[in-house]
Amino acid sequence: MGAVLSDEQVESYRRDGFLKVEGFVDRSRCAALRDAANAIVGDFQPNERRTVFTTSEQERVSDQDFLSSGSGIWCFFEEEAFDADGRLRQAKELSINKIGHAMHDLDPTFESFSYTSDLAGVAADIGLADALALQSMYIFKQPHIGGEVGCHQDAAFLYTDPMTVTGFWFAIEDATLENGCLWAAPGGHRTSLRKAFKRLVPYGEPGSDEGGTEFEVFDESPLPAAPAELVPVEAPAGTLVLLHGLLPHWSDVNRSARSRHAYSLHCISAAAEYPSWNWLQRPASLPLRSLAATAVAA
Ligand code: FE2
Repeated sequence: MGAVLSDEQVESYRRDGFLKVEGFVDRSRCAALRDAANAIVGDFQPNERRTVFTTSEQERVSDQDFLSSGSGIWCFFEEEAFDADGRLRQAKELSINKIGHAMHDLDPTFESFSYTSDLAGVAADIGLADALALQSMYIFKQPHIGGEVGCHQDAAFLYTDPMTVTGFWFAIEDATLENGCLWAAPGGHRTSLRKAFKRLVPYGEPGSDEGGTEFEVFDESPLPAAPAELVPVEAPAGTLVLLHGLLPHWSDVNRSARSRHAYSLHCISAAAEYPSWNWLQRPASLPLRSLAATAVAA
């Protein structure tokens, strides 16, 4: 028996590469996080540099806003948010794909949601006792236009040696087949990392944020086909889903009338090497913090 998870849960995570823990978070805390996310969007002033987030065909807009968002709070638009003339088709509040990527260290509500003794206990139970909180995302999966996220392995975007990145994904609203729930390949984490997303100019060298990015391919073998070779991971609000960094996962476009809000926190081991070519970098003024050392009782 671990600090939080049962032996059966840990075994299930090791076998499948993911684990669903329903009721991990109170719905009132989910509502508080949703309010905090909506407040960030309310304050966000879109400028002419509209950053659109996409992983369709594994493409990402790699402009300066994206590369510098690892140490800030930035709103990314849905691909389908704009009309042909570049105007929003719907209210700003219904146009944002996600917020990223350092709310867990910069916004008090996200901070208190992320650094809890319960979550640190879960991390320790699956072998990440020295977890550092690296990246946070609030994902809206907006009604009608919530974009697909192509099948990928998180370790491709948050690389460490050895591989340690682990996703803690929280359903803030019910995630269903209708509104674009997660899908995953059970056991698919017992495989190779196919590729890594790299800065062309390593962080710390002049012009790194403007230098662009590329994928380096390690293994040409395809990821499982979505959705045929995946299983749906429907999750009521308050559910925590653990995701191994090598697990292939995907989510569909949301054509329903209901949003599918989720919050995800990605952690790495403090003992692993984190290369300076990773897209997400933090300045020395904002060091990564330990999940356990910073935790407060939930
Ligand atoms: Fe992911």
